[in-house]
This record gives sequence, C-alpha cells and structure tokens, in this order.
Amino acid sequence: MRPHSLFHFLVTLSLSGATSAAPSPLKLRQSIASPRNWVDLGRAPPMHIIPLRIALPRPRFPELEKHLAEASDPFHERYGDHLSKEEVEEFLAPHASTIDAVQEWLNGHGIQEEACHRSPAGDWITVRVPVSQAESMLGTEFRVWKHAQDGDVLVRTTEYSLPAHLDGHVELIQPTTAFNRAKRQRTSFRFSPTLENTSLLPSDAKITVPGSGVTVDASCNKTITVSCLKQLYNAENYIPHAVNENAIGLTGYLEQFANFADLQQFYADQVPNAVNTSFDVVLINGGLNNQTLSEAGAEADLDIQFGLGISFPTPGTFYSTGGQPPFIPDADTPTDTNEPYTEWLDFILAQKHIPQTISTSYGDDEQTVPEDFARRVCQGFAVLGARGTSLMFSSGDGGVGDGNPDPATQTCFTNDGTNQTKFIPGFPASCPFVTAVGGTVHIPEVAVDFSGGGFSNFFPRPIWQDLAVTKFLKSLPKGTYAGLFNPNGRAIPDVSAQADFFRIFFQGRAVHIGGTSASSPSFAAFVALLNDARIAAGKSSLGFLNPLIYALNGNGFNDITAGNAPGCGTPGFNATAGWDPVTGWGTPDFGKLKNIALGY
Ligand SMILES: *[C@@H]1O[C@H](CO)[C@@H](O)[C@H](O)[C@H]1NC(C)=O
Ligand SMILES: *[C@@H]1O[C@H](CO)[C@@H](O)[C@H](O)[C@H]1NC(C)=O
Ligand SMILES: *[C@@H]1O[C@H](CO)[C@@H](O)[C@H](O)[C@H]1NC(C)=O
Ligand SMILES: *[C@@H]1O[C@H](CO)[C@@H](O)[C@H](O)[C@H]1NC(C)=O
Ligand SMILES: *[C@@H]1O[C@H](CO)[C@@H](O)[C@H](O)[C@H]1NC(C)=O
Ligand SMILES: *[C@@H]1O[C@H](CO)[C@@H](O)[C@H](O)[C@H]1NC(C)=O
Repeated sequence: MRPHSLFHFLVTLSLSGATSAAPSPLKLRQSIASPRNWVDLGRAPPMHIIPLRIALPRPRFPELEKHLAEASDPFHERYGDHLSKEEVEEFLAPHASTIDAVQEWLNGHGIQEEACHRSPAGDWITVRVPVSQAESMLGTEFRVWKHAQDGDVLVRTTEYSLPAHLDGHVELIQPTTAFNRAKRQRTSFRFSPTLENTSLLPSDAKITVPGSGVTVDASCNKTITVSCLKQLYNAENYIPHAVNENAIGLTGYLEQFANFADLQQFYADQVPNAVNTSFDVVLINGGLNNQTLSEAGAEADLDIQFGLGISFPTPGTFYSTGGQPPFIPDADTPTDTNEPYTEWLDFILAQKHIPQTISTSYGDDEQTVPEDFARRVCQGFAVLGARGTSLMFSSGDGGVGDGNPDPATQTCFTNDGTNQTKFIPGFPASCPFVTAVGGTVHIPEVAVDFSGGGFSNFFPRPIWQDLAVTKFLKSLPKGTYAGLFNPNGRAIPDVSAQADFFRIFFQGRAVHIGGTSASSPSFAAFVALLNDARIAAGKSSLGFLNPLIYALNGNGFNDITAGNAPGCGTPGFNATAGWDPVTGWGTPDFGKLKNIALGY
C-alpha cells in the first residue's frame, strides 16, 4: 500500500468513525507476560499507524500438508510433484463465511472493503489503522517498548481480545504481542590487519581429508574461499547447465545492503570467471539497497558473495525487505518494525516463479514469537516448499543458548513470567519446514563452538526425524540436561557447513567473517547446484529437503563427530556419529548428493 492510499484511508475513517457499530462483547485472545529485556515507555501515540495483519484460518491446510509430505518423500511416487501458485492458493483460501464475518466486523469499525489489503489467497487481510482505532477493535492498550540492550523501539501490547463470534474466523492478529525481530546472526566479524588488503597466497600444500578422501588446499584451514568449499564439499568440477531455469535467492533485512562493487572485488579475488556479472535486486515493503560503499552490510555481502560465488553462473536475486511501513512520524516512536517474514512471504508467494533455493541468515529466539504466530509463519514456509523451493536458515550462533556473549543479558530464561533457565532454540530454524544449517570449522572439520542447536518448544518432532533423533537421545547419559530442553521437540540443525574465517570483501576491504550466517548461504549454494543437476536432467527441483535428507541416513554427508556448542552455562551437546543437535547430519558431499538427487 502506498502513502496515498493511507491518506485516503484516514479520511474515510474519520468520516465513518462516528457511525461505528455498538461495541460487541470481547473475549481475551492472547495475554503474555511483560516481555523480558523490553522497557515500557508508556502509551503509544493514538495517531501512530499500525498495519494490522489479520490471519484467517486455512481450513484446507491439512490437504496442502499431505501434498507436501508426498511430494517431498523420496519413496513416494509423487516425489517432486510441486504445486503451482493457483493450486496453492486454493488450499489456503478461507471459508466464505469467514470472509463475510471478518468483513462485517471491519465494516462495523468503519473500515471499508477498499481499505483492506488481501493476500492473493485471501488468507491474510492487512488494514492500516491508527493506534486508537486498533485499541478499540482489540480491547487493549498499545504501548511503546524499547529494547534494553539494542535500543530498538516497537509499538506492541501484551494482550488483545476479539468479539467472541469471531472465534474460528480469525486465527490471530499481529503486530500485537509479537516481540520477535529479524536479527542477523551474531556474526563474528574481524578486521584482521594481517589479512586486510592482502591478496590470496597461492598454496601448493594440500590436506587430505580422512573420511571423504578429498584433498583441499592447506590454506583453507585458515581462510575459507569459494574454491576451498568446492574442494572440501566435492563439487570442484561441476558446471551448472540449467541457468535459464534455475535460480538462487538470498534474503536481506534490517537495511543490510548487498554491494555491487564489493562483489566485483570478491569475484576478481576468488571467482574470476564471474567478474562483471551481477544479481537482481528486489525491494519489498520499503526495503532499499543503497550502493554507497559505507552502507554495505557485512551480512548481505557475505550472503551474496558466497551464495553466488559457489553457484555461479546460476542467476541470483537479493530480496531486501524493509521493516518500516509508512507511518506518521512522532518523536516518541522513531521506529516500529513489522514482523518481517510475513512481509517477505506475502511477496514471494504472490510470484509465479520463485527461486528453487533460498537462504536466510536471520532469526530470533523462538520464545519471542507467540506460538500461534510462529505456527502461522511456519505454514508459510511449508507453502514455499510445496511450490518446490528449498529453504535454508542459519541455525543461530549461540549453541544451546541465545548467543548473547554478555552473561548479564544472556536470556537463557523463559519469558513466560516464571524465569526458568532453559535452552533457547531459534526461530525460524525451529520450524520443521525449513532446513536449519549449523556450523563447522577447520579441516578436518569439527563442530564450531557457536553452532546453534537444540529442540523446539513449539513444534513437535516431525516423523522424518524420529529415528535419527531418538537414536541421539538414547545415546545421552541418563538425565542429561533434564528439564533444560524439550526432548519431543523438532530438533535442529538438520545439516551444517563451514562457519568461520570466510574471506569476503566488505566496504572495499578483504576481511574475515564467521557465523552460521556463512554456513546457510554456502549450503544453499550447493543445494542450488543439486537443483541445477536435476533440472538439467529434466526433473523437478528438490523442494522441501528434510524428508530426503533424513531418509539418506547420513549418505551424502560428511559426518562431524568432534566438538560441542556450549551455552547457558553448560558445555551444550556434543557432535556425535550420526545426527546430532550441533551439526545435524554433517556437511555436504556434493558429488554423492548429486548422484542421489538424480536417482529420484
Ligand atoms: C586497507 O585498506 C583500507 C582502504 O584502503 C585502509 O583504510 C586500511 O587502512 C588498510 N589496512 C591496512 C592494514 O593496510
Ligand atoms: C587445522 O587447524 C586446526 C586448528 O588450528 C588444527 O587443530 C588442525 O590440526 C589443522 N589441520 C591441519 C591438517 O593441519
Ligand atoms: C569488466 O568490465 C570492464 C569495464 O567494462 C572491462 O574493462 C573489463 O575488461 C571487464 N572484465 C572482464 C573480466 O570481463
Ligand atoms: C545512500 O546512503 C548515503 C550515505 O548514508 C546517503 O547520503 C544517500 O542519500 C543514500 N542514497 C539513497 C539513494 O538513499
Ligand atoms: C522475572 O524476572 C523479571 C525481570 O528480571 C522480574 O521483574 C520478575 O519479578 C521475575 N519473576 C519471577 C517470578 O521471579
Ligand atoms: C560430551 O562428551 C564428553 C567427553 O566424552 C562427555 O564427558 C560429556 O558427558 C558429553 N556431553 C554430553 C551432553 O553428551
């Protein structure tokens, strides 16, 4: 919606405000404890505009889920049979009675049909309303909250209500109680004077990796390049062929901009054939991609450089999603961000063609997302899988904890008001419909000590994980971390890749950078090459990967069996033989995975 429609809407509202319907009895829908680490600055300004997103139930979603289960099960005859945009939308459409009931409620508040923005399937309605209006619709009070550490400001509430007759017609409304943000993983970032501005040294010395038997330049133990990852993950001689059909997407949030000049320097340094090639930029919800060198983002540069460098010449798209909708500026509310993934999902699901592989290196503690909202967003990722896209998310950089390096602000505490100490899984990595990528380091590879892992408190363990995860749980000494994690939850990560000492170009300089932020685009780039191989062979893209990954029982992966990822004052879990909650099944062996992928 453009600012002019906002203006139009406000006029409509002020004219019809006087005629709004008599208040109907409200029923409490959600109430959360006062959010940890957020300071209440007082009432939100009544004219501050909130884009209320109303989720209508999707009664046919179980059918979509069944379809997805079949199309991603390598043993099913319908493996790889993905759905079109139109087919998906049929499965997402709400009941006609729901559409009517919600419209009637909105009309009663003076909000006319033309002021409602509907998603293509009609399962989301967005209305931009002033705080005062939202407060009367939801029987609540919005307040301004400031994050105690990073200073972010949100306009949110700790509870909201809806008329009882909307039970079954409205699933949830946000932004109300959601305090999650798209945080980039806490990338360990070093400007190392000894590496800065130096060129890569040619190296003759080689390391032979036990297990896979591949040989890798000895320099790769200290500096990771595109060539290192192709050697290590056995993809050195692969040449992409399906470049007219296959594509990779990298997402950016928080005004992280991917710089074209940095990419050219990186290509000259590591992928000379790619010099002078670039990527598409798609701006969503007011996102930008400012090319002033000092505005380049380390996260965006990292994602683009390794995601594209490895999969070159596969075409790439950078999605820059903004979080700040147009609103009436007010001294008290300098910023107010929307929940970012729904904005991105709205956009991407409305496209006829979607890149077959997409990586995201952002996330937040699962507990900052209201559970019903996490489920709804997770469904959106399932829909992308059903459309045939493989989604990678970094698993987080805090081991079993939230990754905050300062123990005083570490939130291994539950935020439900009871302040228990618990391991803190990350979201969206904890959504079973994404592939969560953890981290390794060095050659031979061991688990990197910050690799995010653990068990969801929201999502139960999916069936495809049952064997692998129960085997791991049985191997734990009895009583290990009892009460600190949910042994029945969706376990993360699924896989891993190198996560430290990546050489990128950032603001014109060669620097080293690390984090599962590096693992996710790297793993995704190899998935893009797998999709290339399948598409070139006349097959469909891989789509939702996890059922296939777990069915392989370790085949096609380099098992990581050393290292652990501490957190919350514990040593965390160990990397072990087979799947583990530090490195998943391990790192990819592209050569093997390609042959496997071509067999289905
Ligand atoms: C590297 O180059 C940048 C940009 O030219 C410069 O600011 C920086 O001082 C250089 N660093 C070293 C260690 O020479
Ligand atoms: C790679 O570096 C690690 C950490 O310094 C070291 O333990 C390992 O032995 C090195 N690998 C080789 C093959 O030298
Ligand atoms: C890249 O483009 C520049 C400017 O057009 C040109 O001078 C250079 O030769 C090109 N380099 C390659 C490797 O194509
Ligand atoms: C890009 O950022 C620079 C530096 O912050 C600013 O001066 C410039 O106006 C921005 N450009 C655009 C197109 O927003
Ligand atoms: C939990 O911690 C918060 C913030 O530190 C504190 O205000 C609250 O009283 C604590 N609650 C309990 C039950 O200990
Ligand atoms: C990790 O391995 C160490 C060394 O073998 C062992 O002492 C420890 O109990 C293991 N931790 C867990 C959580 O399994």
